[in-house]
Amino acid sequence: MNADTPDTPSISELAELRLSRRTAMAGGLATAAAAFFGVTAPAAAAGSGASAGASGGAAAAAESLGRGGGRPLLGFPAIAPSIADEVLLPPGYRYDVLFPWGHPIVPSGPAFAEDASNSAADQARQAGDHHDGMWFFPLRDRRSGLLCVNHEATTENLLHTDGRAAWSAEKTAKSQAAHGVSVIQVEQDRRGEWQLAESRFARRVTMTTPIELTGPAAGHPLMRTGADPDGVLVLGTLNNCASGPTPWDTYLTCEETINKYFYYGEQPPTAGSVEERYGIGSESPYPWYTTDSRFDMQDEPNEYNRFGWVVEVDPFDPTSTPKKRTALGRMEHENAVVVRGRRGEAVVYMGDDTQFDYFYKFVGAEPIVKARKAGRSPLDEGTLYVARFDEDGSGRWLPLVHGEPGLTTADGFADQAQVLIHTRLAADAVGATPMDRPEWCTVQPHTGAVYFTCTNNTARTETVNAANPRLNNRYGHIMKIDENRNPSAVRFDWDIFLLAGDEASGATVPSDQAFGSPDGLWFDAVGRLWILTDGAQPQVDGGDQNNQMLVADTERGDIRRFLVGPPRCEITGITATPDGRSLFVNIQHPGDSGTPDNPRASSSWPDYSPTGRPRSATIVITREDGGVVGA
Ligand code: FEO
Ligand code: CA
Ligand code: CA
Ligand code: CA
Repeated sequence: MNADTPDTPSISELAELRLSRRTAMAGGLATAAAAFFGVTAPAAAAGSGASAGASGGAAAAAESLGRGGGRPLLGFPAIAPSIADEVLLPPGYRYDVLFPWGHPIVPSGPAFAEDASNSAADQARQAGDHHDGMWFFPLRDRRSGLLCVNHEATTENLLHTDGRAAWSAEKTAKSQAAHGVSVIQVEQDRRGEWQLAESRFARRVTMTTPIELTGPAAGHPLMRTGADPDGVLVLGTLNNCASGPTPWDTYLTCEETINKYFYYGEQPPTAGSVEERYGIGSESPYPWYTTDSRFDMQDEPNEYNRFGWVVEVDPFDPTSTPKKRTALGRMEHENAVVVRGRRGEAVVYMGDDTQFDYFYKFVGAEPIVKARKAGRSPLDEGTLYVARFDEDGSGRWLPLVHGEPGLTTADGFADQAQVLIHTRLAADAVGATPMDRPEWCTVQPHTGAVYFTCTNNTARTETVNAANPRLNNRYGHIMKIDENRNPSAVRFDWDIFLLAGDEASGATVPSDQAFGSPDGLWFDAVGRLWILTDGAQPQVDGGDQNNQMLVADTERGDIRRFLVGPPRCEITGITATPDGRSLFVNIQHPGDSGTPDNPRASSSWPDYSPTGRPRSATIVITREDGGVVGA
């Protein structure tokens, strides 16, 4: 259904260009990418996407291609798509709800009130809303660990007993306390069940936690406000989307859709303004500005410059001040994946999740060990690059460095700080490739290849490029970058790993594993690729499938649906214990917002209480036989 216009190359033409070097013998994209997952040919694949049961077809086809050497990575039967108000898993697996919205961060904390009558002060000691990225940091005994969990956003209809009615300073405070990060200590008892522990590490980071600005943009005039004339200390972090651990055991939490929280005025920003480029509209769906003037841009025009950063939290020091690392750029950050470069420096891959925005990497200036020894952050000095994907399957990392062509004072960038505060404008100026909403990225543990999701882009109505080959890209795709085992490189090769969707949309996955809007993406330690979805899904039983999680064996060409969530949730946030036997996953906004008079209109998960409301939650998945999840 990708109505390629006569003057744009067809998907298969672009794909052939892209794949020419690697798959010349296999003969072009449609066959190569499709055959990889055992799709014989789109037109010949029969049957509806609703068929249940194991995906023996994909595995068999992969075998017949002779791909992969060792044992298959996937050891469970695929489950069917669903529209049920449940979390569904393969046979032999179970889940437990560990940390739903409102759960106290220590057992002695304030108990959750199912009528949402908890105060703002209670909320600041409870799980926030809209759980997103997270990470498990094992403690020494390996049966316990610290779990950092992002709380991306709030559903105000459900957060307060009477929803958005009679908005007040207390409602702003509760909403702000439901954003940010939770650090909790979790432990597994002798029966294998996970619980929260009393812990000196437990803390909440919210919209009122002091956070230090570091790196080139700290102290810049654009970062100064009435409350912080030095431009070095911000209250809070918001829209904490996805995340990433660092090699030095800290947690990166990434600020995404910050524009929604600021009120600009009755008229929207003018066309071509910086504010417009950063998505500021005339309205804010969050009424915070009505009681907290720093969210009213008429009163405080610079406050919004202090959001949209990657924030580092040290979970092992509960008294530490989190840091906004400005060298990593300002955008709608999704996640941040840190690896070591050739010289031992930090290399960080990051997506900017907006239609036609870009994919980035940061390369640190000095080895991690050297920086830390000297008391410097490995994330404060270095070069930020943005990706250009060329039609021939090669690519370039373009440096965003003040003084380079397009990034001079005459171009409107006074200094490097301004290049970083206005990262998007800098990336526009150097000719980066506009992508179909880059969300999570992840690095293959054995090859170093970087995969990232382009979740969808229905606004792509006119121009495709080789890396974004579909007009009206409703279901998204997954990209692969190969830097030839050198994360510090400025050149790379790239490929499209898969096109998501159903048969009619030209997907390169088998029809019985059809899915859309890949978002979360994570390689586990042995190389299973976990794909988590958020958004448009192919149909089943006359309705859109619920969002889901699949697992791919990228070497053998196998993909299987592992989990389906409740209606209108997104599946996001994934981490595991080091032994792979417990997998933590977040179910975000089940039922979405309900309706003002019925919070349970679309979902009652996970409590199924006739007087309660659906809740975002961290679940933990285990195998009944105690084995490795997914194997
Ligand atoms: Fe928070 Fe782009 O997802
Ligand atoms: Ca979300
Ligand atoms: Ca996401
Ligand atoms: Ca998304």
